[in-house]
Amino acid sequence: MLLYEQLADQLRTQIAQGALRAGERLPSIRQLASSHGVSAATAVQACLQLEREGIAQARPRSGYFVQAAATATPATRPSRRRAPGAVSNPMLQDVLDMLSRDDLLPLHSATLAPELLPQSGITAALSHCLRHAPLAALDYAPPQGHLALRRQITQRYAQLGASVSPDEIVITAGAMEAISLTLRTLTQPGDVVLVESPTYHGILQAIAALHLKVLEVPNLPERGIDVERLDQLLQKHQVRAAVLVPNFNNPLGSLTGDDAKRSLLASCARHGTIVIEDDIYGELAWSGQRPSPLRRLDRHGIVVTCSSFSKILPPGLRVGWIVGADWTDALVRAKYFSTVGGASLQQLALAHYLQRHDLERHLRRLRKALADNAQRLREGIARYWPAETRTCNPSGGLSLWLQLPQDIDTYATFEAALAEGIGTSPGTLFSSRGDYADCLRLSCGLPWSETLDRALLRLGKLAAKNRR
Ligand SMILES: Cc1ncc(COP(=O)(O)O)c(C=O)c1O
Repeated sequence: MLLYEQLADQLRTQIAQGALRAGERLPSIRQLASSHGVSAATAVQACLQLEREGIAQARPRSGYFVQAAATATPATRPSRRRAPGAVSNPMLQDVLDMLSRDDLLPLHSATLAPELLPQSGITAALSHCLRHAPLAALDYAPPQGHLALRRQITQRYAQLGASVSPDEIVITAGAMEAISLTLRTLTQPGDVVLVESPTYHGILQAIAALHLKVLEVPNLPERGIDVERLDQLLQKHQVRAAVLVPNFNNPLGSLTGDDAKRSLLASCARHGTIVIEDDIYGELAWSGQRPSPLRRLDRHGIVVTCSSFSKILPPGLRVGWIVGADWTDALVRAKYFSTVGGASLQQLALAHYLQRHDLERHLRRLRKALADNAQRLREGIARYWPAETRTCNPSGGLSLWLQLPQDIDTYATFEAALAEGIGTSPGTLFSSRGDYADCLRLSCGLPWSETLDRALLRLGKLAAKNRR
């Protein structure tokens, strides 16, 4: 081994053992050279080697720092060959309890802190509608939703190169109602519905409420939906619909690439499976490169898209939508029989906001803030949590998924944190049958603060204390 490789190896070991933690500075070139008895050029070569490996990062005039990426990503699970079955999720009550508490540090909730939202623009739009169109704002909205808002949504799809007509959009109370209505309209009790594993627990609950059977296809942190496995499952089972989150899956934050999306669409078309796409995180690519919704790539007319404004604008507005394709008429009827229509004031205010305000500017700031938050969270976890903790490295969305060492009782850690006012989401929530008991999901929607730093430190200590 060359001298610089030996030095790089020693530094790598110190980092792996936690002697040098994420975010900390490596010894200077001069210190490294004198403490290891090598030349400055050799010390520089060792640091460059660590930089190439993504373990260290050079900062101008400051030296080399340990990268948060030094933590490993969660292990990929072997896919379990299970038959379709009922959703069982005993932790649902924990979620409902957490959602009704307002005293928690909301690391459990995939929502944005108020300071990341355009509060004044939204408030101004609401006042504008009440002042200038009070009758419309306080009347029933049409069951399909206000045309002004449907047109605004269509325009955003047009910017992405997806052709969507306002006539095929149905406004809903968030993406959750969009998914529930779509499932209720397109399936019958006993049908099999394919979902990713892990996936958003709301999707699992909607499936359970409609007495559908669930079949899981793995979603992999590095490349999203396992499309080969999806094809095998569709060959083996008759699957009525697949509810998929290809853009920044919650909880993994993983992204399914365009080729894989095309391939999964072709598989579903071949097997007569309808695709219900949940694209709620599509606008949150931290690089600003908005990934394609499946709808844009669909050549077979098999995609129904569900989405909402909840992850980019205030979620309490409760405005989402369905792009219903050939099923639009049935979906409008379902919406009518469910709630008659959505909330008029919010729909008109959002249409006004989208027309008059610079959404792109807000999104640019938001994406940058989320990328920063995620990086700080990863650094904090690497600094404070047990050394073998694995952390996903997403490129968008609102979630950070962690895998704790096997000997840590993750549920006990979750409960102890809750007792101290810190919310986290235990991994089993995201599986139909209790998988991921060693995982946790944290939200990236909270800007970095001393409180957050202290909470991460505390969580790390609680995890270490709950070793079996
Ligand atoms: C993947 C996914 N779909 C749907 C929802 C629900 O969205 P909404 O608040 O618009 O109903 C969420 C919320 O966290 C989500 O993560």
